[in-house]
This record gives sequence, C-alpha cells and structure tokens, in this order.
Amino acid sequence: MAEATDDGRVVVVTGAASGIGHACVRRFAAAGDQVIVVDVNAIAGETVAAEIVEAGGNASFEPLDVTDRVAVVTLAARIDAAYGPAGVLINSAGILQKLERLADFPDEISDQVWAVNYFGTYNCCKHFGLRMADRGAGAIINIASLSSYRTMPLLAYGPSKTAIVSLTGTLAVELGVKGVRVNAVAPGMVLTPAQEKNFQQGLRDRRAMESSAPLNRMVMPAEIADGVFFLASDQASAVAGVTLPIDCGWLASECWPILGGIPHQG
Ligand SMILES: NC(=O)c1ccc[n+]([C@@H]2O[C@H](COP(=O)([O-])OP(=O)(O)OC[C@H]3O[C@@H](n4cnc5c(N)ncnc54)[C@H](O)[C@@H]3O)[C@@H](O)[C@H]2O)c1
Repeated sequence: MAEATDDGRVVVVTGAASGIGHACVRRFAAAGDQVIVVDVNAIAGETVAAEIVEAGGNASFEPLDVTDRVAVVTLAARIDAAYGPAGVLINSAGILQKLERLADFPDEISDQVWAVNYFGTYNCCKHFGLRMADRGAGAIINIASLSSYRTMPLLAYGPSKTAIVSLTGTLAVELGVKGVRVNAVAPGMVLTPAQEKNFQQGLRDRRAMESSAPLNRMVMPAEIADGVFFLASDQASAVAGVTLPIDCGWLASECWPILGGIPHQG
C-alpha cells in the first residue's frame, strides 16, 4: 500500500462488499485511509475487509441494511465512538432491477428499489452528514447513474437515481454551509459482478453496452473509484453539488445514432 493522504481519514463506504463500493474501499485504503466496509452481506463484507488488511491496509467490516433507519443512526454513533469521526461517506449500496413494462412491474419491487437506492442513501446522508456538519467538515459522495439524466426502461431504478442528483444538490447547500461537501458520480455501464450476472442471465447485451459509448468499452469499477476519490480529496475543495458522469463518453454521444452512429474504428 502506498500514497498516504494528508490526514488518513475514516472513510465509510456502504455497499462495499461488491462492485463499485468494493473498488472504492480498495482505492481509499491504498491511499492510507481507514476504511469501514459497510454492507448487508456480512460474509462478502468480512471477506473484503480481510482482503484489504491482508494487503496492508486498514479496514473493518460493519453490517448494515441501509433501509433500516434505526440501524443507520446506531451505526453512525458506533463508528464515531469506535474509529473516530467519519471524514468521508460514500453511498454505493444499491440494487438493479429487471426490465419490465408498467403493467407488469410489481409494486413491491418498485418500493424495494426506492427503499435501497434513494432512502438508503438519504438515511446515511442524514445521519452521517449531520455528524459531519456538527464538526464542520466532511465529504459525501453519492452514486447516481446515467439513468439520472436519460430515461431507460427502468421504472423505479431510473427515477430513484434522478432523485439522488436532486438530493445531492439539496444537501450540498444544506450541509455545505456547515463545511460538508456533497457530490455524486454518475457511472456509465460499469463491469461489476451485478452486470456480469445480468449478462450471464441474458438480461443485458454486453456488446450493445460497450458500443454505445465512444470509448467502445465498459467503465471499470476502479475508474469510478478514482472519480470518487478525487471528489473526496482536497483537490476538489471547491467542488460541491455536482454529479460527475464517468461514462466513456456515453452522454456526449447520445444523439449520434440519429445521424449514422458513433464512428467506431474497425
Ligand atoms: N454497475 C453499473 O453499471 C452501475 C451503473 C450506474 C450506477 N450504479 C450504481 O452503483 C452502485 C453500486 O452498484 P454495483 O454495480 O457496484 O452493484 P453490486 O451489486 O456489485 O454492489 C452493491 C452492494 O450493495 C449491497 N447492498 C444492497 N442492498 C443493500 C442494503 N439494503 N444495505 C446495505 N448494502 C446493500 C450489496 O450487498 C452489494 O454488496 C449502485 O447504487 C448502482 O445503482 C451501477
């Protein structure tokens, strides 16, 4: 492990047992930060924390279902007491959904997607954010999506991610006046275990995802973690309230199919 940061912060990452959250804890631990791996999946979370410690980093696992408000309040207090105040919160806990039409989309699934993706993020922003505000310092990074900006056949997932952009802006003001910076990243199509499972089950077309971006590939989880790391760093000390797309150029090229498509090489 190398590249120590200025202060060796306590960095709390929800959804850290897999995918983007996993890449984030690896990125911050490699920079010398103390990472708290938070996830509802205890076996995978313990494994990720152990892997980081094995590599010479400083990591602990804390179980949490982000939809459980009482548990979020309890964990925020526990982390303060056990590890010291959280300097960075990354909200990566989230669930995807199947492509379903309105008439067939079960209300329970809609509720569940909103509960984890939006209210889970809100709960953690609120209870870790208020503690940061009391201390007058901190950085929060939420995980939005391209579906925050453009509609997709994702009836609950898309709107829940649009709401995260709005929440990020609102909290950037509400908590910004107290010295807490709140930002988000909007990942493009990221090659995570969740997406790989979708490919295996025939629920998503990998080649279509790759060729829909000018860079002709999917985004790697470590590339999202680099963006998150920047937003949490002193290099972003004047950045607040933004949602940064990290998408291999997908948003920029969205209208090109109307005029012949993206001119990929070869
Ligand atoms: N993979 C992509 O292409 C992509 C694109 C845009 C946005 N995102 C977003 O990035 C975030 C991470 O996605 P990922 O692809 O890494 O998924 P993932 O499934 O690999 O990881 C998500 C993690 O969240 C955890 N989790 C789920 N529900 C939870 C809960 N209630 N409480 C605590 N933890 C919970 C899971 O156990 C898992 O470890 C999500 O918010 C997702 O919407 C992903």
